[in-house]
Amino acid sequence: MLKCLVCQGGVIPFITFGKMPIANGFLTSKEFKNEYFFNLEAGFCKNCSLVQLTEIVDPPKLFHEHYSFYSSTSEGMRTHFQQFATQMKNKYLKKVNSPFVIEIGSNDGIMLKNFLDWKIKHLGIEPSKNVARVAKTKGIKTISEFFDIKLAKKIIKKYGNADVILGANVICHIPNLNSLVEGVSLLLKPKGVFIFEEPYIGEILKKTSYDQIYDEHVFYFSASSVQNAIKKFDLELINVEPQEVHGGELRYTIARSGEYHVNQSVKKTLAQEKRLGLLTIAVYKDFAKKLEKTKSDLMSLLNKLKKQKKRVVGYAATSKSTTIINYFGITPDHLEFISDTTLIKQGKFSPGQHIPILPYEQFKKNYPEYALLFAWNHSQEIMANEKDFVKSKGKWILYVPKVRII
Ligand code: SAH
Ligand code: TMP
Ligand code: ZN
Repeated sequence: MLKCLVCQGGVIPFITFGKMPIANGFLTSKEFKNEYFFNLEAGFCKNCSLVQLTEIVDPPKLFHEHYSFYSSTSEGMRTHFQQFATQMKNKYLKKVNSPFVIEIGSNDGIMLKNFLDWKIKHLGIEPSKNVARVAKTKGIKTISEFFDIKLAKKIIKKYGNADVILGANVICHIPNLNSLVEGVSLLLKPKGVFIFEEPYIGEILKKTSYDQIYDEHVFYFSASSVQNAIKKFDLELINVEPQEVHGGELRYTIARSGEYHVNQSVKKTLAQEKRLGLLTIAVYKDFAKKLEKTKSDLMSLLNKLKKQKKRVVGYAATSKSTTIINYFGITPDHLEFISDTTLIKQGKFSPGQHIPILPYEQFKKNYPEYALLFAWNHSQEIMANEKDFVKSKGKWILYVPKVRII
């Protein structure tokens, strides 16, 4: 039986996509013949309830000099992180003398920019060198390495212990969660807190958002599985708060056991997860069953539009789109191109199916009849910006939670 990456318990696979390319592996035509594929499958740990991938792609294959996700491309996310940083400053740093904030997976500095502006001592840990460089250019102190216990020890020696350690959409990317948590627990001051937010398994099930499952997302956390993972390091959950970003996340606040009052939200969420069945395999098997329905609904629609010779394009070449495009079999015959605002993706091709990625201006210049919205998690921001597309009789195709045209 497969072993849990965190507790060594038995893992039962419940959803299998087969051979998939790297979700953020946008490539040039020269690179097609060497494209990397792995078996994408998620399983449930019977012992600690942690949902996880059963095959792990080596992190340096995903996070490197040409990483294609730049956090600051979304205005909505810039606002989100400004609010996140402000809340942390007010809640945990007010009474601290010369506070020190660390962020794991700081990317282009979307969060730490705020601490820089407030002249608060900070340090970003960001292994993808290209995005780390963007942060450094803004004046944000950044180390371009993978965070683990070894790096934590080096940081303590050179910079000292931290009052607050932050992470967003990164803790679920790090296969050696034990090394990470142990590193964090060494690095925190006695009253320090570790706060991170990640896609929530409860929301993934509720929205049937299969597209959250891809190589970078090694773990699909719940409050229960997080609690199980941290307790052996003498840490405890003191607060959980739902967040709307990225299709529904949970923000976890963690401290040394006994140092803080534990907020009611923890007990409530743990009980709710038990009630919803997140601690047993059945709900995950049900979830997997619904996948085939979404696949046949979306593909019937795309095949019909193809027959009718309608112009259909993809909107936003998100990492999430890779699972959908490849598992469903969406080809360049279905989508003329995918429009995206990220420079490094433009002129390249989508992983696996090799659909051309074109600059957003191509979409604007000659509106298609239909746009398949891959960035459904940013739909509010996008629909507010794209009123002209709708005025020109353009229609949106969505597939989360159900396939529909609006
Ligand atoms: N926090 C940002 C970026 C999320 S993308 C946001 O929410 O928008 C995840 C980032 O984590 C990538 O930039 C990736 O390079 C980085 N990362 C991956 N593994 C890491 C590790 N072990 N330590 C620190 N950062 C890591
Ligand atoms: P994400 O869903 O993984 O956050 O990826 C966002 C991608 O979507 C990124 O490549 C930028 C692209 N994008 C657009 O092209 N237009 C937009 O309006 C938004 C919000 C994102
Ligand atoms: Zn486990």
